[in-house]
Amino acid sequence: MSAAGPPTRVLFVCLGNICRSPTAHGVFAALVERDGLAGSIEVDSCGTGGWHVGEPPDRRATLEAGARGYDLRSLRARQLRADDFRRFDYMLAMDENNLADMRTLCPGDFSGHLGLFLDFAPQRGEREVPDPYYGGDEGFAHVLDLVEAASEGLLREIRRARAD
Ligand code: 4NP
Repeated sequence: MSAAGPPTRVLFVCLGNICRSPTAHGVFAALVERDGLAGSIEVDSCGTGGWHVGEPPDRRATLEAGARGYDLRSLRARQLRADDFRRFDYMLAMDENNLADMRTLCPGDFSGHLGLFLDFAPQRGEREVPDPYYGGDEGFAHVLDLVEAASEGLLREIRRARAD
């Protein structure tokens, strides 16, 4: 893949930006770094809601990610804004509610990809990353499983698109 041209910008979106989307942010950024693509792919995350703005990820998400070698500790929650549709090429929702909320903010001339993150892991047979916030630790492990699979699929897709 060539490093030429502007970077491809990816935004992961969930409800609170403290569980699922920061997990996707940390995992996908680590894969980008692993493959030496940090100059070609930029990563961010946010929430459709604003309740947790400025907070670090949920401790349970940070622990589960840390156990698998991903560091979420520097991330801070922020809220989705209309301007994001001008900045990002891939706007990836964790669930259908997130996607519906994003569509209400999406300008008519948005030319990027707006969709569900798990569509990049069709082999998993799930289209939504379940919200783990009110559940137990196993929910956070499941989020990591799904996010790792979809991150590999997304990276393959972006490599292919940039090679065209
Ligand atoms: P997330 O999980 O959308 O994966 O960050 C949630 C975090 C907080 C809340 C809901 C979902 N909350 O209602 O505060």
